[in-house]
Amino acid sequence: MDDLLKRLKDFEDSALSRLKSAQSGKDLDVLRVEFLGRKGKLSEYSRMLGKAPAELRPKIGAEVNRLKKVIQERIDAAGVGFGGGGKKEFFDYTLPVRSSFVGRKHPLLQTVDDIVSIFHGMGFEVASGPDVETDYYTFDALNTPEDHPSRDLSDTFYIKKGVCLRTHTSPVQIRTMEKQKPPVRIIAPGRCYRSDTPDASHSPVFYQCEGLYVDEGVTMADLKGTITAFARMMFGKNVRVRFRPHFFPFTEPSVEYDFSCVICGGKGCRVCKYNGWLEISGAGMVDPEVFRAVGYDSEKYTGFAWGMGVDRITMLRYRIDDIRLLYENDIRFIRQF
Ligand code: DAH
Repeated sequence: MDDLLKRLKDFEDSALSRLKSAQSGKDLDVLRVEFLGRKGKLSEYSRMLGKAPAELRPKIGAEVNRLKKVIQERIDAAGVGFGGGGKKEFFDYTLPVRSSFVGRKHPLLQTVDDIVSIFHGMGFEVASGPDVETDYYTFDALNTPEDHPSRDLSDTFYIKKGVCLRTHTSPVQIRTMEKQKPPVRIIAPGRCYRSDTPDASHSPVFYQCEGLYVDEGVTMADLKGTITAFARMMFGKNVRVRFRPHFFPFTEPSVEYDFSCVICGGKGCRVCKYNGWLEISGAGMVDPEVFRAVGYDSEKYTGFAWGMGVDRITMLRYRIDDIRLLYENDIRFIRQF
Protein backbone atom coordinates (compact mmCIF):
# COMPACT_ATOMS: atom_id res chain seq x y z
CA MET A 1 0.00 0.00 0.00
CA ASP A 2 3.01 2.26 -0.19
CA ASP A 3 1.68 2.35 -3.68
CA LEU A 4 -1.30 4.45 -2.56
CA LEU A 5 0.99 7.02 -0.95
CA LYS A 6 2.97 7.18 -4.15
CA ARG A 7 -0.22 7.67 -6.16
CA LEU A 8 -1.26 10.46 -3.82
CA LYS A 9 2.08 12.17 -4.37
CA ASP A 10 1.69 11.90 -8.15
CA PHE A 11 -1.86 13.15 -7.90
CA GLU A 12 -0.68 16.18 -5.88
CA ASP A 13 1.94 17.09 -8.48
CA SER A 14 -0.40 16.86 -11.41
CA ALA A 15 -3.30 18.55 -9.60
CA LEU A 16 -1.18 21.54 -8.58
CA SER A 17 0.29 21.95 -12.02
CA ARG A 18 -3.13 21.77 -13.67
CA LEU A 19 -4.45 24.34 -11.20
CA LYS A 20 -1.56 26.58 -12.11
CA SER A 21 -2.51 26.52 -15.77
CA ALA A 22 -6.24 27.19 -15.18
CA GLN A 23 -7.30 30.22 -17.26
CA SER A 24 -10.62 31.19 -15.73
CA GLY A 25 -13.08 30.74 -12.88
CA LYS A 26 -14.82 28.21 -15.11
CA ASP A 27 -11.62 26.12 -15.44
CA LEU A 28 -11.32 26.21 -11.66
CA ASP A 29 -14.86 24.97 -11.23
CA VAL A 30 -14.17 22.01 -13.48
CA LEU A 31 -11.00 21.13 -11.57
CA ARG A 32 -12.71 21.56 -8.21
CA VAL A 33 -15.30 18.97 -9.20
CA GLU A 34 -12.65 16.63 -10.57
CA PHE A 35 -10.40 16.86 -7.50
CA LEU A 36 -12.69 17.58 -4.56
CA GLY A 37 -16.18 16.62 -5.77
CA ARG A 38 -18.21 13.75 -4.31
CA LYS A 39 -17.18 11.56 -7.23
CA GLY A 40 -13.77 13.23 -7.51
CA LYS A 41 -10.23 11.90 -7.15
CA LEU A 42 -9.76 12.54 -3.43
CA SER A 43 -13.09 10.89 -2.54
CA GLU A 44 -11.93 7.88 -4.52
CA TYR A 45 -8.70 7.75 -2.50
CA SER A 46 -10.67 8.06 0.74
CA ARG A 47 -12.72 5.04 -0.25
CA MET A 48 -9.59 3.02 -1.05
CA LEU A 49 -8.38 3.74 2.46
CA GLY A 50 -10.64 0.99 3.79
CA LYS A 51 -8.64 -1.61 1.89
CA ALA A 52 -5.23 -0.35 3.07
CA PRO A 53 -3.34 -2.20 5.84
CA ALA A 54 -4.45 -0.96 9.25
CA GLU A 55 -1.02 0.42 10.21
CA LEU A 56 -0.85 2.63 7.12
CA ARG A 57 -4.40 3.98 7.32
CA PRO A 58 -3.67 6.95 9.65
CA LYS A 59 -0.82 8.07 7.46
CA ILE A 60 -2.77 7.77 4.23
CA GLY A 61 -5.86 9.39 5.85
CA ALA A 62 -3.77 12.34 7.02
CA GLU A 63 -2.28 12.68 3.56
CA VAL A 64 -5.72 12.74 1.89
CA ASN A 65 -6.89 15.43 4.32
CA ARG A 66 -3.77 17.48 3.75
CA LEU A 67 -4.29 17.32 -0.02
CA LYS A 68 -7.95 18.37 0.31
CA LYS A 69 -6.84 21.43 2.23
CA VAL A 70 -3.96 22.34 -0.07
CA ILE A 71 -6.04 21.99 -3.23
CA GLN A 72 -8.95 23.98 -1.80
CA GLU A 73 -6.52 26.76 -0.80
CA ARG A 74 -4.99 26.84 -4.26
CA ILE A 75 -8.41 27.04 -5.86
CA ASP A 76 -9.45 29.90 -3.56
CA ALA A 77 -6.26 31.83 -4.20
CA ALA A 78 -6.51 31.40 -7.99
CA GLY A 79 -10.19 32.42 -7.83
CA VAL A 80 -9.28 35.89 -6.51
CA GLY A 81 -7.33 36.54 -9.68
CA PHE A 82 -10.30 35.58 -11.82
CA GLY A 83 -12.73 37.73 -9.82
CA GLY A 84 -14.73 34.72 -8.65
CA GLY A 85 -15.16 31.06 -9.48
CA GLY A 86 -13.44 28.15 -7.87
CA LYS A 87 -15.54 28.51 -4.74
CA LYS A 88 -19.30 28.93 -4.78
CA GLU A 89 -19.70 31.72 -2.23
CA PHE A 90 -16.61 33.58 -3.34
CA PHE A 91 -16.73 37.32 -2.66
CA ASP A 92 -14.01 39.73 -3.72
CA TYR A 93 -13.99 42.75 -1.42
CA THR A 94 -11.53 44.58 -3.62
CA LEU A 95 -13.83 44.95 -6.63
CA PRO A 96 -15.31 48.42 -7.26
CA VAL A 97 -18.96 48.93 -6.26
CA ARG A 98 -21.52 48.26 -8.98
CA SER A 99 -23.73 51.33 -8.73
CA SER A 100 -27.46 50.81 -9.19
CA PHE A 101 -29.73 53.57 -10.52
CA VAL A 102 -32.59 54.53 -8.25
CA GLY A 103 -35.43 56.25 -10.11
CA ARG A 104 -36.93 59.45 -8.75
CA LYS A 105 -39.67 61.93 -9.50
CA HIS A 106 -39.44 64.25 -12.45
CA PRO A 107 -38.63 67.83 -11.30
CA LEU A 108 -42.03 69.04 -12.55
CA LEU A 109 -43.84 66.49 -10.42
CA GLN A 110 -41.66 67.33 -7.44
CA THR A 111 -42.85 70.92 -7.84
CA VAL A 112 -46.48 69.79 -8.16
CA ASP A 113 -46.05 67.81 -4.92
CA ASP A 114 -44.68 70.86 -3.12
CA ILE A 115 -47.42 73.16 -4.44
CA VAL A 116 -50.06 70.64 -3.38
CA SER A 117 -48.59 70.26 0.08
CA ILE A 118 -48.45 74.04 0.64
CA PHE A 119 -52.09 74.53 -0.36
CA HIS A 120 -53.10 71.40 1.47
CA GLY A 121 -51.81 73.13 4.60
CA MET A 122 -54.19 76.03 3.86
CA GLY A 123 -57.19 73.72 3.54
CA PHE A 124 -57.30 73.14 -0.23
CA GLU A 125 -58.06 69.75 -1.76
CA VAL A 126 -56.80 68.39 -5.08
CA ALA A 127 -59.32 68.18 -7.93
CA SER A 128 -58.79 66.97 -11.46
CA GLY A 129 -60.37 66.94 -14.89
CA PRO A 130 -59.66 65.41 -18.30
CA ASP A 131 -56.91 66.60 -20.66
CA VAL A 132 -59.28 66.14 -23.60
CA GLU A 133 -62.02 68.67 -22.94
CA THR A 134 -65.07 70.09 -24.59
CA ASP A 135 -65.34 73.66 -25.81
CA TYR A 136 -68.04 74.12 -23.23
CA TYR A 137 -65.75 73.56 -20.20
CA THR A 138 -62.68 75.12 -21.78
CA PHE A 139 -64.34 78.31 -23.01
CA ASP A 140 -68.15 78.71 -22.87
CA ALA A 141 -68.73 78.03 -19.17
CA LEU A 142 -65.74 80.27 -18.44
CA ASN A 143 -67.50 83.18 -20.10
CA THR A 144 -65.13 83.24 -23.07
CA PRO A 145 -66.79 84.89 -26.10
CA GLU A 146 -67.26 83.00 -29.38
CA ASP A 147 -64.69 85.18 -31.11
CA HIS A 148 -62.04 85.14 -28.38
CA PRO A 149 -58.55 84.60 -29.88
CA SER A 150 -57.71 81.77 -27.44
CA ARG A 151 -60.28 79.61 -29.25
CA ASP A 152 -58.41 80.02 -32.51
CA LEU A 153 -56.96 77.00 -34.30
CA SER A 154 -53.56 78.63 -34.08
CA ASP A 155 -53.80 78.51 -30.27
CA THR A 156 -55.84 75.42 -29.51
CA PHE A 157 -55.43 71.79 -30.60
CA TYR A 158 -58.84 70.52 -31.69
CA ILE A 159 -59.56 66.78 -31.68
CA LYS A 160 -62.80 67.35 -33.58
CA LYS A 161 -65.52 70.00 -33.60
CA GLY A 162 -66.32 70.99 -30.02
CA VAL A 163 -63.54 68.83 -28.49
CA CYS A 164 -60.02 70.05 -27.78
CA LEU A 165 -56.95 69.53 -25.61
CA ARG A 166 -57.49 71.86 -22.66
CA THR A 167 -55.52 75.09 -23.00
CA HIS A 168 -55.60 75.77 -19.26
CA THR A 169 -56.65 74.02 -16.03
CA SER A 170 -59.58 76.43 -15.52
CA PRO A 171 -62.19 73.90 -16.81
CA VAL A 172 -61.62 71.99 -13.55
CA GLN A 173 -63.23 74.96 -11.75
CA ILE A 174 -66.44 74.37 -13.67
CA ARG A 175 -66.41 70.58 -13.28
CA THR A 176 -65.87 70.93 -9.54
CA MET A 177 -68.58 73.56 -8.99
CA GLU A 178 -71.07 71.50 -11.02
CA LYS A 179 -70.56 68.61 -8.62
CA GLN A 180 -70.16 70.44 -5.33
CA LYS A 181 -71.94 73.15 -3.35
CA PRO A 182 -69.90 75.89 -1.59
CA PRO A 183 -67.66 76.11 0.31
CA VAL A 184 -65.21 75.02 -2.39
CA ARG A 185 -61.49 75.09 -1.83
CA ILE A 186 -59.57 73.23 -4.54
CA ILE A 187 -56.34 73.23 -6.47
CA ALA A 188 -56.04 71.38 -9.77
CA PRO A 189 -52.56 70.66 -11.11
CA GLY A 190 -52.32 69.18 -14.59
CA ARG A 191 -51.13 69.23 -18.17
CA CYS A 192 -52.29 71.84 -20.66
CA TYR A 193 -51.75 72.17 -24.39
CA ARG A 194 -51.36 75.05 -26.77
CA SER A 195 -50.35 75.17 -30.37
CA ASP A 196 -47.03 76.90 -29.65
CA THR A 197 -43.72 76.37 -31.44
CA PRO A 198 -41.23 75.14 -28.85
CA ASP A 199 -38.49 77.55 -27.78
CA ALA A 200 -36.68 78.29 -24.52
CA SER A 201 -39.87 79.57 -22.87
CA HIS A 202 -42.67 77.84 -24.84
CA SER A 203 -43.73 74.24 -25.03
CA PRO A 204 -46.89 72.88 -26.69
CA VAL A 205 -47.43 70.86 -23.51
CA PHE A 206 -46.95 72.48 -20.12
CA TYR A 207 -48.21 72.30 -16.55
CA GLN A 208 -50.56 74.63 -14.70
CA CYS A 209 -52.04 74.54 -11.26
CA GLU A 210 -55.51 76.05 -10.93
CA GLY A 211 -56.92 77.29 -7.64
CA LEU A 212 -60.46 78.13 -6.61
CA TYR A 213 -61.99 79.32 -3.35
CA VAL A 214 -65.74 79.98 -3.12
CA ASP A 215 -67.70 80.77 0.02
CA GLU A 216 -69.78 83.53 1.57
CA GLY A 217 -67.78 86.70 2.11
CA VAL A 218 -64.60 85.80 0.19
CA THR A 219 -62.76 88.97 -0.90
CA MET A 220 -59.86 90.15 -3.01
CA ALA A 221 -57.89 90.49 0.24
CA ASP A 222 -58.18 86.71 0.68
CA LEU A 223 -56.84 86.23 -2.83
CA LYS A 224 -53.85 88.46 -2.17
CA GLY A 225 -53.16 86.87 1.20
CA THR A 226 -53.37 83.32 -0.16
CA ILE A 227 -51.01 83.93 -3.08
CA THR A 228 -48.56 85.87 -0.90
CA ALA A 229 -48.53 83.08 1.69
CA PHE A 230 -47.84 80.58 -1.08
CA ALA A 231 -44.99 82.68 -2.52
CA ARG A 232 -43.29 82.88 0.87
CA MET A 233 -43.63 79.16 1.55
CA MET A 234 -42.32 78.29 -1.89
CA PHE A 235 -39.48 80.81 -2.24
CA GLY A 236 -38.75 82.07 1.26
CA LYS A 237 -40.10 84.84 3.45
CA ASN A 238 -38.35 87.68 1.62
CA VAL A 239 -40.16 87.23 -1.68
CA ARG A 240 -42.59 90.06 -2.51
CA VAL A 241 -45.76 89.76 -4.59
CA ARG A 242 -47.35 92.39 -6.80
CA PHE A 243 -50.74 92.41 -8.49
CA ARG A 244 -51.35 94.28 -11.75
CA PRO A 245 -54.80 94.95 -13.27
CA HIS A 246 -55.53 92.65 -16.18
CA PHE A 247 -58.45 91.05 -18.00
CA PHE A 248 -59.72 87.46 -18.03
CA PRO A 249 -63.24 86.54 -19.23
CA PHE A 250 -63.84 84.38 -16.14
CA THR A 251 -62.83 86.85 -13.41
CA GLU A 252 -63.83 90.40 -12.52
CA PRO A 253 -61.76 92.18 -11.39
CA SER A 254 -58.79 90.32 -12.85
CA VAL A 255 -55.10 90.65 -12.11
CA GLU A 256 -51.79 89.30 -13.19
CA TYR A 257 -49.39 88.62 -10.34
CA ASP A 258 -45.60 88.72 -10.16
CA PHE A 259 -43.05 87.53 -7.60
CA SER A 260 -39.95 89.58 -6.86
CA CYS A 261 -37.12 87.88 -8.74
CA VAL A 262 -36.03 84.84 -6.74
CA ILE A 263 -32.68 84.79 -8.52
CA CYS A 264 -31.45 88.35 -7.80
CA GLY A 265 -33.84 89.28 -4.96
CA GLY A 266 -35.37 92.06 -7.10
CA LYS A 267 -32.16 93.92 -7.94
CA GLY A 268 -32.41 93.02 -11.62
CA CYS A 269 -30.73 90.20 -13.53
CA ARG A 270 -30.91 88.33 -16.83
CA VAL A 271 -33.72 86.04 -15.64
CA CYS A 272 -36.05 88.92 -14.66
CA LYS A 273 -34.89 90.95 -17.66
CA TYR A 274 -33.43 93.52 -15.25
CA ASN A 275 -36.80 94.67 -13.90
CA GLY A 276 -36.76 92.71 -10.63
CA TRP A 277 -40.13 90.94 -11.12
CA LEU A 278 -41.17 87.57 -12.50
CA GLU A 279 -44.59 87.10 -14.05
CA ILE A 280 -46.26 84.00 -12.58
CA SER A 281 -49.87 83.91 -13.86
CA GLY A 282 -53.35 85.41 -13.55
CA ALA A 283 -56.03 85.55 -10.89
CA GLY A 284 -59.20 87.33 -9.96
CA MET A 285 -62.64 87.31 -8.38
CA VAL A 286 -64.89 84.70 -10.04
CA ASP A 287 -67.15 86.41 -12.58
CA PRO A 288 -70.90 86.16 -11.76
CA GLU A 289 -71.40 84.74 -15.28
CA VAL A 290 -69.28 81.73 -14.28
CA PHE A 291 -71.38 81.21 -11.15
CA ARG A 292 -74.49 81.41 -13.31
CA ALA A 293 -73.15 78.63 -15.59
CA VAL A 294 -72.78 76.25 -12.64
CA GLY A 295 -75.95 77.33 -10.83
CA TYR A 296 -74.32 79.12 -7.88
CA ASP A 297 -76.11 82.16 -6.40
CA SER A 298 -73.74 85.05 -7.08
CA GLU A 299 -75.67 87.27 -4.65
CA LYS A 300 -74.79 84.88 -1.85
CA TYR A 301 -71.35 83.59 -2.78
CA THR A 302 -68.13 85.18 -3.92
CA GLY A 303 -64.85 83.53 -4.76
CA PHE A 304 -61.41 83.93 -6.15
CA ALA A 305 -59.49 81.85 -8.67
CA TRP A 306 -55.96 81.80 -9.90
CA GLY A 307 -53.67 80.02 -12.30
CA MET A 308 -50.05 79.13 -11.73
CA GLY A 309 -47.32 78.22 -14.20
CA VAL A 310 -45.77 75.07 -12.76
CA ASP A 311 -43.02 75.01 -15.39
CA ARG A 312 -42.02 78.58 -14.54
CA ILE A 313 -41.87 77.81 -10.83
CA THR A 314 -39.84 74.64 -11.48
CA MET A 315 -37.42 76.53 -13.72
CA LEU A 316 -36.94 79.23 -11.09
CA ARG A 317 -36.35 76.93 -8.16
CA TYR A 318 -33.90 74.68 -10.03
CA ARG A 319 -32.36 77.45 -12.16
CA ILE A 320 -33.36 75.80 -15.47
CA ASP A 321 -33.14 78.20 -18.41
CA ASP A 322 -34.93 76.22 -21.13
CA ILE A 323 -38.44 74.74 -20.74
CA ARG A 324 -37.71 72.12 -23.43
CA LEU A 325 -35.37 70.35 -21.00
CA LEU A 326 -38.43 69.49 -18.91
CA TYR A 327 -40.07 67.58 -21.77
CA GLU A 328 -37.19 65.98 -23.68
CA ASN A 329 -36.63 63.46 -20.88
CA ASP A 330 -32.89 63.23 -21.40
CA ILE A 331 -31.94 60.91 -18.57
CA ARG A 332 -28.67 62.84 -17.96
CA PHE A 333 -30.77 65.93 -17.20
CA ILE A 334 -33.50 64.22 -15.14
CA ARG A 335 -30.94 62.40 -12.98
CA GLN A 336 -29.71 65.70 -11.57
CA PHE A 337 -32.83 66.25 -9.46
N1 DAH B 1 -56.38 80.29 -17.22
C1 DAH B 1 -55.46 81.42 -17.25
C2 DAH B 1 -54.33 81.12 -18.23
O1 DAH B 1 -54.20 80.03 -18.68
C3 DAH B 1 -54.85 81.64 -15.88
C4 DAH B 1 -55.88 82.12 -14.93
C5 DAH B 1 -56.14 83.47 -14.83
C6 DAH B 1 -56.57 81.23 -14.14
C7 DAH B 1 -57.09 83.94 -13.93
C8 DAH B 1 -57.54 81.70 -13.23
C9 DAH B 1 -57.78 83.06 -13.16
O2 DAH B 1 -58.21 80.87 -12.45
O3 DAH B 1 -58.70 83.49 -12.28
O4 DAH B 1 -53.58 82.00 -18.53
